[in-house]
Amino acid sequence: MKPLKISSKASAPTKVILFGEHFVVYDKPAILAAINKRIYVDVSIRNDNKFVLHTDEFHEEIGINDIDSSKTKLSNIIFTNAYNILSEFDSRLGLNISIRTPVPFGSGLGTSAATSAALAAAITNLFNVFDKRKIFLLTLEAEKMIHGKPSGADPAICVTGGLVMFRKTKPDMLIMPLEFEDLNFVIIYSGDNRFTSNIVNNVKKMKDDNPDLFEVFANKSEEITLDAIQVLKKKDYESLGSLMIRNHELLKSLGVSNEKLDRLVEIAMNNGALGAKLTGAGGGGSVIALARDKDRLLNALKDYQVFVADIDKDGVRIE
Ligand code: PMV
Repeated sequence: MKPLKISSKASAPTKVILFGEHFVVYDKPAILAAINKRIYVDVSIRNDNKFVLHTDEFHEEIGINDIDSSKTKLSNIIFTNAYNILSEFDSRLGLNISIRTPVPFGSGLGTSAATSAALAAAITNLFNVFDKRKIFLLTLEAEKMIHGKPSGADPAICVTGGLVMFRKTKPDMLIMPLEFEDLNFVIIYSGDNRFTSNIVNNVKKMKDDNPDLFEVFANKSEEITLDAIQVLKKKDYESLGSLMIRNHELLKSLGVSNEKLDRLVEIAMNNGALGAKLTGAGGGGSVIALARDKDRLLNALKDYQVFVADIDKDGVRIE
């Protein structure tokens, strides 16, 4: 099929996991929020059969016949992803792909899913198609290349936007929108990038070695997440903060936190936060804090990359 446009631009929000990370891989519920730090992807058609990728961090190009889908390097995943999306339209176009991200890749804020969703939206829009379900499925496939067995929570939130409860159910997934009005967060990036797949694999090993203990943890995570839905409904942010701390302690017991993340949580709590926890896979990445006095928190954490994030309502969109 021939494209109907020569260029296109789309964006998708990054995200935080408020509750339930890791256990969501094993069918327990999680709460996620899309945040107003969007990843922008521009694509334009080339008149050769190369993919040329440009980001703030690197520039790479490849002939489309040389793409090796087994390589897990970020650029290669983007190339493979672009190739697969074009294949949906029986197309073998060369493309310029330009990616702009306001947060570092690997910072635990769902940059990989947001990039894949924005890429899928930008490329399908070349053919005048904008279908969120299709973008979700393409993003999920891309996440499988990166993480092996993702829960699907990241693709879901960056496609839908908002605040949602997510649960992997068979044969599909349950995505329940939650109300959020005046909710926002302070996000602190630890400065340490990490590969989600490594941490997810460590958790799987723990689960295989100690299934009974893992089940206790998973049930605790579910209980915390379901309680959080209730307190969110009541806008009871004191209780929400306490649940965040309980969730962080649980993730610590699971072995996915580290000294730096614990220290960031401690600094947040010593500076008036209602709650704080690591967000996403852990082992680095970011901490999320809930605070009434955000300035105090921003000041206390000024040596780190720290910002206030509002919830993004739109999800993936064409620009
Ligand atoms: O690394 P992040 O922020 O994309 O989070 C991964 C979330 C996990 O629950 C650890 C894995 C998953 O697939 O849901």
